[in-house]
Amino acid sequence: MDVHNVYLDRVVGRIDQLPTNELVEIAFAGKSNVGKSSLINTMINRKALARTSGQPGKTQTINFYNIEEKLYFVDLPGYGYAKVSKADRERWGKFIESYLKSSKQLKLIIQLIDIRHKPSELDKVMYNWIVYQGYTPLIVATKMDKINRSQVQKHVKVIKEELGLTSDSIIIPFSSQTKKGKDELWEHIDRCLEV
Ligand code: GTP
Ligand code: MG
Repeated sequence: MDVHNVYLDRVVGRIDQLPTNELVEIAFAGKSNVGKSSLINTMINRKALARTSGQPGKTQTINFYNIEEKLYFVDLPGYGYAKVSKADRERWGKFIESYLKSSKQLKLIIQLIDIRHKPSELDKVMYNWIVYQGYTPLIVATKMDKINRSQVQKHVKVIKEELGLTSDSIIIPFSSQTKKGKDELWEHIDRCLEV
């Protein structure tokens, strides 16, 4: 998709604030600091529309970015930030769960995993939970610029094994710095919009 017109349409802190229009939603999940907001910026050719920071746990709301009045990119709050209290973690879980359960427009969940590390226990919990909700997450392995190109396939394989994916399932290695993976990810999203 050619992206020119994007804007932050809605910032949702409570479940009754979810949009009620007909736009298809594509959601981005992943632990805090994995690069969700950066990836969204890369996908929409913006430097900083989606707010990024070195401070993990920055995005606490569900942010709906309107893309060409055709779809929403949904930036979910990151999980697994150690300094978040148990009460806040539970609130987060309930909030995301009610979003995943109530959204009729959610067509694809993209789960981001840092390519450098084995998926954490929380990544696995999140993956299984998304599957349990009836979705098959598309995995994007972020920050690929941080490892040697020759190591990419090895790291992808580890992620597949740890998450229990079939060997033919797709993981897209991605870098917001080099924009590698951007076209491939757009192809998947476009395909998903067709059906
Ligand atoms: P939360 O909103 O806290 O959940 O974080 P997030 O997942 O939105 O991460 P964000 O995009 O804010 O990125 C976190 C940090 O990682 C920032 O310092 C980014 O500059 C950096 N970062 C993100 N993507 C990449 C990448 O592809 N390569 C490199 N080298 N750094 C990246
Ligand atoms: Mg963010």
